[in-house]
Amino acid sequence: MIQIKTIGVAGCGTMGAGIAIVAARAGFRTRVFDVREDALARAREQTEGFLRKSVERGKLAADALPQIMAQWSGTTQLADLADCDLVIEAVFESLDVKHELFSQLNTICPERTIFASNTSTISITEIAGGSGRADRFVGMHFCLPAQLMKLVEMSPGLNTSESTFL
Ligand SMILES: NC(=O)c1ccc[n+]([C@@H]2O[C@H](COP(=O)([O-])OP(=O)(O)OC[C@H]3O[C@@H](n4cnc5c(N)ncnc54)[C@H](O)[C@@H]3O)[C@@H](O)[C@H]2O)c1
Repeated sequence: MIQIKTIGVAGCGTMGAGIAIVAARAGFRTRVFDVREDALARAREQTEGFLRKSVERGKLAADALPQIMAQWSGTTQLADLADCDLVIEAVFESLDVKHELFSQLNTICPERTIFASNTSTISITEIAGGSGRADRFVGMHFCLPAQLMKLVEMSPGLNTSESTFL
């Protein structure tokens, strides 16, 4: 079983920004990738604002805020996800876009890296089929807003290995 220390989040729109907050707040090094600089800037601002409100409401210790922000780094270079143990994809709901992203990630990330998709409507087996590592691919469906909702639906594809899913 691999130990997850670094999580990549690919796509930081509505869902990806929230998923990245969850990952960084849980103590993982969190690398956030988007093709758009403005999406990254917005997500970072949103993350800081959310954490600041959490401190004001007494839900987070003040000294935890800079620590969590230090775990969060944004990039427009997919290659910066090369050291991730898990990559959670949250790009547009398009099979072609997801296939293109995962096939590139498959050449960048080491064998141990597990891929996950936050898709709401596309089959995990189908997305995994274009990833080059269908055995190390899972569905991780966060609910909106991800940073507040405790439920994450996990689903294996037909070819996900037991050791990946468990
Ligand atoms: N919005 C919801 O309520 C919700 C809930 C659960 C799951 N989902 C799923 O989450 C995924 C993302 O949805 P969203 O609502 O956050 O979308 P969104 O449009 O808010 O964000 C998508 C982000 O992906 C980026 N992007 C597009 N192509 C990219 C690429 N090739 N590489 C990197 N970044 C890219 C865009 O710049 C944008 O920032 C979809 O698969 C959707 O089905 C959405």
